[in-house]
Parts: sequence; C-alpha cells; structure tokens
Amino acid sequence: MDKFIVSKSKLSGTVRVSGSKNAALPIMAATLLSEEKFVIKNVPSLKDITTMIKILEVLGKKISFQANTLTVESKTKRRYVAPYRLVKTMRASFCCLGPLLAKRKKAKVALPGGCVIGPRPVDLHIKGLTHLGADISIERGYCQAKADNLKGNHIYLGGPFGSSVLATANVMMAAVLAKGSTLIEHAACEPEINALGQFLKKMGADIQGFGTPLIRIKGKKSLAGCEFKVIPDRIEAGTFIAASLATGSGLEIKGAEPGHLTSVFEIAKKIGAKITVNNKTKSIKVKTPGKLKAVNITTLPYPGFPTDLQAQFMACLAKAKGISLIHEKVYPDRFMHLAELNRMGASIQKLGPYAIIEGQKNLKGAETQASDLRASAALVIAGLAAKGGSKVSRIYHIDRGYENIEEKLQKLGANIKRIK
Ligand code: UD1
Repeated sequence: MDKFIVSKSKLSGTVRVSGSKNAALPIMAATLLSEEKFVIKNVPSLKDITTMIKILEVLGKKISFQANTLTVESKTKRRYVAPYRLVKTMRASFCCLGPLLAKRKKAKVALPGGCVIGPRPVDLHIKGLTHLGADISIERGYCQAKADNLKGNHIYLGGPFGSSVLATANVMMAAVLAKGSTLIEHAACEPEINALGQFLKKMGADIQGFGTPLIRIKGKKSLAGCEFKVIPDRIEAGTFIAASLATGSGLEIKGAEPGHLTSVFEIAKKIGAKITVNNKTKSIKVKTPGKLKAVNITTLPYPGFPTDLQAQFMACLAKAKGISLIHEKVYPDRFMHLAELNRMGASIQKLGPYAIIEGQKNLKGAETQASDLRASAALVIAGLAAKGGSKVSRIYHIDRGYENIEEKLQKLGANIKRIK
C-alpha cells in the first residue's frame, strides 16, 4: 500500500482545481436514463470514477475515458443489477437505483453498508422512490425495486440530519421519467444537485427549482443524450484553503467557483486568512499572514459549512490560538481523524457531536493512518504544518477523491512524496 512522506512546507504559486467527483458520479448514473450518446467533460481521473465506470459497464454501457472526457454509449438496456463487489467500495453507486428503475422498470442494487464516518442509512432514498410508486424490498443485502409505471407525487425528503444529497439525486432521476408531476420538498441544495438538474435539463427533462429546497418535475416519456461539463470541485478548493491556513502560506486557486464557497471563506477569514476573489477569472487568492485564531464551526447541508471540509479545517484549528469548537451536524461521528491529529501533538477532545480543540503552538510529525477520504487530506495538511517528518499510510482513501494531489502540492512547493 502506498504512503505519503510529508514534512513542514511553505506553499506558494497557483493550483487549478479538478472537476467535482461528487457532481460527476450522479451525472454518470443519470446516463442510464437514455440509450443515446453522452459526452461528459471535466471528469476527474479518480478511483471512484473508475468504480462508477465499471458499474455502468456491468449495466450495459460502453465507455471511453480519456483526458478527463467521458463518452458513454449503450450496448444493452436489459441489465439491472449493480453488484456488491463494486457498490461496497463507493456509496455513490447507490444512485443508480433511481435511473435504473425509471428506465428499465426494475433495479437490483447492493446496499452500500456502513462507513467509518458513521451510520449511513438509505431510508430517504427508499421513501422517495416508494412515493413514486416503486415496489421495494431488501433481500440478501440487495435493494430490489420494480415499477411498471412510476407516477409523480409530492415527496417530503427531509431526514433527521436535514436534506440528503444522493436521495435527492435518486428521486430527481426517477421522477424525470415518471408519469405526471412531482414536487420534492426539503430537497438538498448542494451545487452538485444543481449540476445534476442542469444535466437532466440538457437531456430534455422538464425540471425546475433544482438548487433550492423545492424541485418541480413534469415527467417525460423519453430523454436524449447530451454534452456536459462538470462543475469544479468545491471541496478540493476548500482543502487548498485549509492547506494555506495551516502552513501560513499564500496561494492562488484557479478554476474553482467562488460562489460555491461562501461559508468556507467566512470561516477561513475568521481564522485569519485574507481572501481575494475574482469572479470573472474564477481566481481565489488566499494569504495567511498572521497567527491563526480559534473559531467555532458548525457543519450543515449547503449553503452551510460542508462536513467534507470539517477534518481539513480541524487540522488548521489544531494550531490556532485559543479554544475552537466544531459541531458536526451532518455526521455526528465523523471524528476518526481526531485521534491521529492528537498523535501529532494536537489537543482535541470529542464530546458527542462536538470536537473541542485547544490550539497548540506547534504540531509534531508522526506516523499516522488515514481512515477515510477527507481525513487523509487533513493528515496531509497537518503533516505540511508540523515540525519534523510525517508518514501518512492508507492513502488509497485520498486517491478516491483528489486528482493528482501530490503533484499539485509539489508544484506549490510542498515537501510530499509517495512511496510504494
Ligand atoms: C454526499 C456526499 C458526501 C457528503 C454528504 C453530505 C456524494 C457522492 N457524497 O453523501 O461526500 O459528505 O453528501 O454533504 O455526493 N441520511 C439519512 N437517510 C438517508 C440518507 C441520508 O438519514 O436515506 C442522513 C445521513 O446519515 C447523514 C445526512 O442524512 O447524516 C446527510 O447524508 P447525505 O446527504 O445523504 O450524504 P450522501 O448523499 O450519501
């Protein structure tokens, strides 16, 4: 298994963010809604994308992926089983359920199971699709669904932790081919859902309100193929902002959408960053001149501060003067990185869904182990900010979600290298 060797670094220069993994994955699933050809650009070259390609191939799609462009064509429209061996590695594969059901009238998708960031139920996905008329049962670890004719309905999709991104995606993708009108209330408003809505519209769907909590859909009989460009990865951009903060560096992030990062800018500024945004050129300049200040962060569904940046900002706050509090409201148990950061000299305690961080003057390099995708980014950031060298193992997690991360960091001057 590959490892990263990381040591204290000062970053400078320019970095370009890749296309958004979390936008690309549901869009790829949406290609199941038509047998026509799709060309999807700005798709990041990542392990999760390869997994989704394999799932779509099993489901009868013919795919080529070159230079971040994905071409999807149809070989057969009869297959409907997404197998466990692929689904277990990536939860997003569960969003094949809605489009398979809508287009092929039946679907058998392995249940994704648990995850180190806490329990991850699929009740909202099932509730939404059942309201559209699907007959769903769970058998031997698979979600089996059938529906001869999906029918539009009024669906409330709020859950105990707010809206659900992929449940909203699943229900949107089923409703665009259902008979009649659907109203999704308490829909997720994430930019990735907005991107999926744009994609479905390009396919010819009659869909309005995506990107807001109320989505209105009038079902169509069929949809067409299309060309589409995936939005930039806001979580990758936020990760570079966190890296700039933790290392006291200045850098320019290019190709991101500043409008997707308002909550992140707010927190970064409170911690001590100076941020200059050029909306026209899509440039974000971050400077961290002084000492870091403690802040309180609450993670929330969009437009709140993203849970997917909680770990990376915890790594910064480990060095900020004073006591910071993080309230994790999306995944209350998402604190696996905490113990690893403490091994690097941080002083962080978990109390239920809260992390209390007592900022330290210095972090110290150590051997650490990544538990999940964003936690691995946090450990790399901590390693770049710590005195002495660090070794981060299990970095296959980071390869799931960050395209060429070490090349990008090395170009900024980071001392990071991969060992096999
Ligand atoms: C997506 C993102 C993930 C991000 C998360 C929250 C992708 C591929 N992944 O995951 O990176 O961390 O949004 O922003 O886009 N819930 C239920 N019942 C359900 C579904 C979810 O109670 O049926 C709960 C979850 O346990 C969690 C909260 O709702 O507490 C939000 O989860 P959700 O938005 O569904 O996350 P994903 O869409 O799986």
